[in-house]
Amino acid sequence: MKSNRLLNFITNKITLAVLTIISAFTAFFFYSCRANYVFLDYTVFNGISYLLLSLMIINTLLLLFLYIAEAYGLKIKERYFSETKTFAALSIIGFALCIVFAIGVMVNMIVAGEETFPVIMKMAAKNFPAFAAIATIVFFISVFPSLKNKTLKIVTVASTAICLFIVSLWVLAPVCNYKITSAPLVIDSGEDYYSVVFATNDEGTGYVEYEYEGETVRLYDEAMGRIKGDSKIHTVEVPKEQLDGNTYRVGSKRVVEAYSYGSYTGKEVVSQNYTFNAPDGEEQQWLCVSDWHTRLDKAYDALSYAGDYDGVIMLGDAVPGLMFEEEIKDYIVEFGGNLCKGEVPVVYIRGNHETRGEYAAKLPDYLGMESFYYTASFGNYEFIVLDSGEDKKDSHPEYGGMVNYAQYRENMTQWLETLEKSDKKVVVLSHSYEICIEEDLSSRAFSALKDLGAEYIISGHTHTNEFFEYNGLSVYLDGGHKNGVFIASKITLSADSILFQACNNEGKVMFSQSSAL
Ligand SMILES: [Fe+2]
Repeated sequence: MKSNRLLNFITNKITLAVLTIISAFTAFFFYSCRANYVFLDYTVFNGISYLLLSLMIINTLLLLFLYIAEAYGLKIKERYFSETKTFAALSIIGFALCIVFAIGVMVNMIVAGEETFPVIMKMAAKNFPAFAAIATIVFFISVFPSLKNKTLKIVTVASTAICLFIVSLWVLAPVCNYKITSAPLVIDSGEDYYSVVFATNDEGTGYVEYEYEGETVRLYDEAMGRIKGDSKIHTVEVPKEQLDGNTYRVGSKRVVEAYSYGSYTGKEVVSQNYTFNAPDGEEQQWLCVSDWHTRLDKAYDALSYAGDYDGVIMLGDAVPGLMFEEEIKDYIVEFGGNLCKGEVPVVYIRGNHETRGEYAAKLPDYLGMESFYYTASFGNYEFIVLDSGEDKKDSHPEYGGMVNYAQYRENMTQWLETLEKSDKKVVVLSHSYEICIEEDLSSRAFSALKDLGAEYIISGHTHTNEFFEYNGLSVYLDGGHKNGVFIASKITLSADSILFQACNNEGKVMFSQSSAL
């Protein structure tokens, strides 16, 4: 009698429904423990963890099928279980495996320890939306046909549609074909290395590879020996003497997840070969672009009329602000990479709109730059690059108390005053031609620049194309985007002159003037 009562309990549709839910959660939490699979695989045999996970999923499906057979009546049950004994046996197996797996996973989580348990819960939280959505679809398929009430039917369809939408967003993004999204952006910020920066359409590792003195050199985007794999932007420092005049390629391996023990990686992609040359001749042509503010199409149109150039000057203001990594990727890394084509250096000047947002503080790391004020030399010419910071006082409500640029500009001015006059021809690059919003600092900065032999300052910020005198220096405002029109410039440096040329996105010449240098 007792055994009959137990069998009736196990084969009851409510019991089977509950067991299905327990089994699904067990598989889900075991999947959330995958950062520790390596221990079980190492102790027993490689692959046992995923074998167990597969068994948990199969058992969940078995229990679900048994529930449907029991709940939807005798036709299914009779068709698939001509002998009641088969149905009972499978129910007992499903019940036993469900209990064993559930206890096993619970014990595993309890003994995980205070360091590992939060990791498991974070992993569970990460995947829970997808789990919930899939569970809802299964719920819909299993339950909807039995619903008689019209309102319940509408609610069920609506909730399933919402979950399908969520799971579509979650699932479709990671399955895109992994690829490198532009030519590398090669930044020269006056250091003894170039920052080779490139992006991929999903997170992964990044490296630069080339031949040097008969050896193949591969340099990774890494920190103290640990290869990074948590970003779509990859930044590699390459010694200048190894990249100048050399051919290189970049590569990346997709990283789905990197664990404390092991990792889950995907496809590896490698770019075409690029040959890099930094200008060092007497005549140098520099493409100049500022204030594109995400208007890439207009900017590309204007730049298509630029012809050949030896280097690129990016004068800042790529975006309204840096709230997401994607903004750095799309409007600085990829845009800059497309301009320099991985073959000529880029001198990057920070715009005031790159000083805003959560990711503003991370921008130096993304671009591999030690500082946003520096000097960079190319042959007989030296660029003094300055950073205006924000264009309003730090107390302005726009900045939400998250800036300290007054002190920053003071530090930059002090640094500028320590520079020694070089024998090269100096050109100043600054997003704002006023350099500092503080009159005293601005005055000190212009005084220092004149002492260093500077005569020209090239700037953006105003979204206008102008040439005028200011504080004893000649100011050239590059242009940028304004009212649907984009103006880009080309600066030609030569032994005794500097040529300023500007063109809009329809190919119309907006400015052309040569001055003594
Ligand atoms: Fe600006």
